[in-house]
Amino acid sequence: MSQEPAICIRGLVFHYGEDIPALNGIDADIADNTYLAIVGQNGSGKTTLVKHLNGLLKPSAGSVTVYGIDTRSATVGQLAHTVGYAFQNPDHQIFCATTREEIAFGPRNLGLTESEVASRAQETLAAFGLTPFADVPPAVLGYGLRRKVAVAAVYAMRPRVLILDEPTSGLDRRSADELLALVDALHREGHTIILVTHDMRLVAEHCQEILVIHEGLILDRGPTREVFRHVDVLAQAQLLPPQITRLAGRLGDVGIPPDVLNIEEFCAAVHTRLRRKPQ
Ligand SMILES: Nc1ncnc2c1ncn2[C@@H]1O[C@H](COP(=O)(O)OP(=O)(O)O)[C@@H](O)[C@H]1O
Ligand SMILES: [Mg+2]
Repeated sequence: MSQEPAICIRGLVFHYGEDIPALNGIDADIADNTYLAIVGQNGSGKTTLVKHLNGLLKPSAGSVTVYGIDTRSATVGQLAHTVGYAFQNPDHQIFCATTREEIAFGPRNLGLTESEVASRAQETLAAFGLTPFADVPPAVLGYGLRRKVAVAAVYAMRPRVLILDEPTSGLDRRSADELLALVDALHREGHTIILVTHDMRLVAEHCQEILVIHEGLILDRGPTREVFRHVDVLAQAQLLPPQITRLAGRLGDVGIPPDVLNIEEFCAAVHTRLRRKPQ
């Protein structure tokens, strides 16, 4: 892990037009090799924020630097070597004639040899369960599969920073878990992961820290366990902690800690409680 933050965001303001800014002064450092969730209501500015991290959008004011490179002075192509962004809407990303080509496109642009590109595509198709669709145009696949193709195409580049914008919308629970297991493996290898999602269970099970966006501003930021204790702050952004955390929160009177994040922690707390000798 490097000491230098992966991304520094300073005073970031962004206007799409004349009206209210979509981002209204964002300051944040994103550490190298963190696993950050970005959460917030629809329209709060999540996509606008992450599109600044790979240079798709340039600040109206303030700055974004990625490993020391100011995004205003780099092209999206240059930044793509470092930051991979899987679009919220896969149809804004997918354009190749076959799924295999779609997945090979990024690695080829990184300058890998054709045999490396082919093996990277083959591996990625297999990892995402897309091999049966390798020779099919991705545009004709169902929504869940198009989502997987969009994520796989970015994943195949093994970018130092991987940004996934609602990657599990339209996926069933098992596919969502399988997809995030692949992302977790990249995180363990040292990559920085930024996950935009509405699924608080996934945040609790995968992410180290949470950044809450509300009306173009940061409403909260901190380690996952800590932010999920800020129930009132989350409520301002129409968010709720995961169900298991809320259940634990109701059982404080019987000795269950209020900040459990998953079923394993919940069961461990119950077992500890049951084993305790009666007073
Ligand atoms: N292309 C666009 N043109 C104009 N306004 C936009 C555009 N994209 C998003 N917005 C507006 O910017 C705000 C933030 O949107 P967005 O970043 O997409 O939020 P989120 O990803 O959190 O749902 C919203 O008010 C949205 O309507
Ligand atoms: Mg969005």
